[in-house]
Amino acid sequence: MNRNQDLLNPLVMGDEVSMHALFRHLREEDPVSLVEHPDFEPFWAITKHADIKHISQNNAAFLNNPRTVLVRKDFEKALLEQFGTRNGLETLIHMDNPKHRKLRNVTRDWFKPGPIDRLTGDVQGIARAYVDKMEEMGGECDFVKDIALLYPLRVIMSIIGVAPEEEAMMLRLTQELFGGQDPTQSRGLEVSDGLGVLMDFFGYFTAVVEDRKKNPTGDLASLLANALVDGEPMEALDQISYFIITATAGHDTTSATIGGGMKALLEHPDQLAKLRDNPELAKQAAREMIRWVSPVRHMMRTTTEALELRGKSIAAGESLCLWYPSANRDSEMIDNPDVFDIERDNRNQLAFGYGGHMCLGQHLAVLEVEMFFRELLPRLDHIEMAGDPDWVQAIFVGGLKSMPVRYRFR
Ligand code: HEM
Repeated sequence: MNRNQDLLNPLVMGDEVSMHALFRHLREEDPVSLVEHPDFEPFWAITKHADIKHISQNNAAFLNNPRTVLVRKDFEKALLEQFGTRNGLETLIHMDNPKHRKLRNVTRDWFKPGPIDRLTGDVQGIARAYVDKMEEMGGECDFVKDIALLYPLRVIMSIIGVAPEEEAMMLRLTQELFGGQDPTQSRGLEVSDGLGVLMDFFGYFTAVVEDRKKNPTGDLASLLANALVDGEPMEALDQISYFIITATAGHDTTSATIGGGMKALLEHPDQLAKLRDNPELAKQAAREMIRWVSPVRHMMRTTTEALELRGKSIAAGESLCLWYPSANRDSEMIDNPDVFDIERDNRNQLAFGYGGHMCLGQHLAVLEVEMFFRELLPRLDHIEMAGDPDWVQAIFVGGLKSMPVRYRFR
C-alpha cells in the first residue's frame, strides 16, 4: 500500500506524532503525491509550504468548487443527488468569485481587527468564567471536555446569538459534522446519518433567521438575517449556510488550539513559565499554538488548467488537497519548525490558509486563545497531565478529544 493513503486514515491523522511523521515523509519523498483509494475520488496531496501558498493565493486558477474537503465518494454522490453539489452546502469555503467576494463582503468589516478588539471585554469575561469553573472543579478535570471544548463554543454562540441552553445541541451537531469518521462522535456511518446532521443544522438556523428578521438585535445573526447582496435580501440557503460555517468553523478549530496549546505548554515547561511571567506575550503565544496545532488539516482546490508541479503533470479539473499542518512544519519556510517557541515570528504560517479564502475569523480566534491563557496562567500555581491524552479520529478538523490534568490554583 502506498503510504500516502494514510492521509485518509483517521487513526494516523488523529495523532500528532504519526501525522507529522507522514507529512515529513511526503515532503521529503513525494511532495506532490497522487492519492488513489477505493473509497475516495483521487486527489493530489500538496505538502510543501511554497506550493500551498502559491495555490491558495491564485483563486482564479484554483477553484474551491466543486470539491472543498475530503469526503467519501458515496457520500459525495448522495450530496450531489440531494443538494446538487458534492459538499451538500454552499458556504463561503465552497464558493468562487464573483459570488464568494459578494458574500464575504457582508461580514468582512465585522471580522476586522478593530471591531473584533471591541469584543475583548466580553471574550475575557467568558474566559474568566471557564477558568473559575476549572478552579471550582477542585484540582482535576478533563481539560479538553470540561474547558477547551466549551469556552470557544460559548464565545461563538454568544456572537451568533444562540442561547446558552441550545449550546449542547450545537456542540453535538458540530462534532457529528466534523468527527464523521470517529465512531464515538458520528451519528452513524450511513450516508443518511450524515444527511440527517445537515438537515438538523438547516432546521435550527432557519428559525434563528426568521426570529432576527422580526426582532433584529445588532448581533451577527441580525446582520446575516437582514443582509442585502446586490441590493436584494440574501438567499435563504446562503443565510443558513453562513450560520453553519460560522458556528462550525468558529469553535472546533479554536477548541482544538486551546487543548493542543495547553498540551504543548505542559510538554515545554520553559515556555509555560515564560508565558506565565510575561503575559504580554500571550498574543504571540496564541499564534504559535495555532501554528503548532494547525487544527484545520486540509482544504481542497480544483485546477482550471493543466500544470506541472515539482515534475508532476496535473490535468485541468483535477483535485489538489492542501495540507496546512505540513506547510507549518516545512523547514524551507519556517525556521526550526519542530520547536515550540512562543516568541516566534509567525507571519509566515499557513494555519489560517492564504489568499481570498483566508480565515475570516482569524482575529477572533487569536483573541480567544490569547484571552484564555492570559486569564488562566497567572492564577495557576502548578499543572500536570493526569492521564493519556486521546485524539479525535478525523482528517478534516483534528485535535484532542480528552486530556486529564491535575492542577493547583494560587
Ligand atoms: C485557530 C482557529 C482557526 C483556524 C486554524 C482556522 C482555519 C481556517 C482555514 C484553514 C480556512 C480556509 C482558508 C483557505 O481556504 O485559504 C478557514 C476559513 C474560514 N474560517 Fe477559520 N479558522 C479558525 C477559526 C475561525 C473562527 C473563530 C471563525 C469565526 C467565525 C472562523 C471562520 C471562518 C470562515 C467563515 C472561513 C471561510 C472563509 C472563506 O472561504 O472566505 N474560523 N479557517
